Order: sequence, then structure tokens, then C-alpha cells
Amino acid sequence: MAGSETVGTLIAGDVIAGEPPKGDLSGKVALVTGASRGIGRAIAVALAARGALVGVHYNAGADAAQETLAAVRAAGGDGFLIAADLGAPQAWDTLADGLAAALAARGLERFHILVNNAGVSRRMLIEEVDEAEFDRVLQVNLKAPFFLIRRLAPLLADGGRIINISSMSTRAAFAFSPVYAPSKAGLEALTRLLAVHYGPRGITVNAVLPGATATDMNPVSRDPKAREATAKTVALGRVGEPEDIARVVAFLASPDGGWVTGQMLDASGGQRL
Ligand SMILES: NC(=O)c1ccc[n+]([C@@H]2O[C@H](COP(=O)([O-])OP(=O)(O)OC[C@H]3O[C@@H](n4cnc5c(N)ncnc54)[C@H](OP(=O)(O)O)[C@@H]3O)[C@@H](O)[C@H]2O)c1
Repeated sequence: MAGSETVGTLIAGDVIAGEPPKGDLSGKVALVTGASRGIGRAIAVALAARGALVGVHYNAGADAAQETLAAVRAAGGDGFLIAADLGAPQAWDTLADGLAAALAARGLERFHILVNNAGVSRRMLIEEVDEAEFDRVLQVNLKAPFFLIRRLAPLLADGGRIINISSMSTRAAFAFSPVYAPSKAGLEALTRLLAVHYGPRGITVNAVLPGATATDMNPVSRDPKAREATAKTVALGRVGEPEDIARVVAFLASPDGGWVTGQMLDASGGQRL
């Protein structure tokens, strides 16, 4: 250890003897929901590149999930696939059973990092939303993480991480997100209270709030005019790439992120500040 000070006085660059290198996730097992494409795929690759064994969850995108697994391996890591439709009743049981089986096949009992990333969004005004659409968005974006966390908590190692992917649309008004933004606001409320609930087990619970990010979900990935207009609302002058978000998640998952809990971490490049 550099000096004999307590941890609270350590500064960047200090090295603690016996601690793993910064960002080292070797020996850790992660589950990333919605990892077949977009931000989830980038998160899976980032965690694998830091040494984690990664469960790549998907729904409709079986081929895309295989591509994620190939990218995970190309990054020097390894992983496994789990399918589950989080819009279906009891989907969390399917997903949890798949994770438990994958762990057992490797002689493991616990995992360490849960990233609730799967999400759905459709541009609609409140007048266009029917009950089925409301229920669909709430189910995937809020109900599924709620029950998945509860179901997986016994399998999550003490000292583990829960990272929920929210959205900066919870702090700025987007008229076309009348169900999506409230679903993410609920996820943030859940994040804060679960940080307290799981704190005694050393488990951190945080939310990452991307801004406009170039994925299938966001028109900025298809429409150059939308991309340009949106970039003008971002302090750093561009829209986000999935890897921008993945690096923030990797930080929270890493040993360096261990003193951060119950936080809503905006990762939007300063959109609509
Ligand atoms: N892109 C943005 O601008 C942006 C901004 C703020 C927040 N976010 C959040 O970031 C997260 C990732 O979004 P993204 O942009 O990467 O979206 P995306 O490219 O549309 O990918 C969505 C992912 O979620 C999975 N998914 C969707 N419906 C599902 C269901 N019913 N059951 C299981 N999995 C399902 C998809 O799996 P399959 O393809 O296999 O079905 C896919 O892997 C979401 O929570 C989103 O709300 C995105």
C-alpha cells in the first residue's frame, strides 16, 4: 500500500498491494440483458475485455446474439447465451433458470454483475398510446428488471453489482416518450431503494442514463438530419456510441466503482443540460 493512510485518503494513482489491477473483472461472471445488439452488445464486449465471463441474453435476435458472443471471444473473453422474452409472463424465471444452469455447467454457484439493459421504446404521443402499448413498455422496462433482480438476488455474490440502464429522458421533457420516460423513472426509483436494501450485502445498485445513442432504438442511427439536430443539443457536440455507455457500465462494475451506489449516472455527453 502506498503509505499507511486509510482508504479515504488514497488518491488516484495509489496502488494497494494485493488488490487486482484497475478494471480487472477476471473471475467475475456477468449477465447482460438485451445483449444481442446496441448498447447491450457493447456492454457485453467491454465486460468480457476486462476478464468477465458474460451471459449474453437475447430475445428475437438469436443470430445477432451469436455475433455478440463472437465479439466477446474476439475481445479475449468468453460467454454463453440465454434466450428469454421479457415481455412474456414469468420470463424472469426462464432467464434465472438459464443462468443457474450455465453457472452449474461451469461448477459455479454465484454470479457478480447484473446489467438490466433490455428495453423497448416507440415514438408516440400520449394520445396514440393504448393500454396494450403501455403494458408492453412497462413490462419490459420496469416489471422485468424488478422481478429479475428479486429472482436473481440469491444467486448474486455479496459485493456484487446491479446496473440498470435508464435514460436521460427522465430529466428532460420528450413529448414522444410518454410511457418510456415514466418506465425509466420507475427503474431509477427502484435503483435508489435497492441500493439501501442490498447495501448490507456489499452490493452496489446504480443506474446509467444514456442520452441519444446510435442504435436501432434511436432515429439518430438512421437519419443524418436527426443526428445533426440532436448533436446540437449535446454539450460534447455529438450523439453517443454504444461504447460510450459501455465504458461507464464497466467502471461501475469494476473494483474502482465499488464506492458508488444508489446513483443515477448521466452518460449523455451533456445532452439538454
Ligand atoms: N439508444 C438510445 O438512444 C438510448 C437512450 C437512452 C437509453 N437507452 C436504453 O439503453 C438500453 C439499450 O437500448 P439500445 O439502444 O441498445 O436498444 P436496441 O438496439 O433496440 O436493443 C434492444 C435490446 O433489448 C432487447 N429486447 C427488446 N425487447 C425485449 C424483450 N421483450 N425481451 C427481451 N429482450 C428484449 C433486444 O433483444 P432482441 O433484439 O434479441 O429481441 C435488444 O438486445 C435500453 O434500456 C434503452 O432504453 C437507449
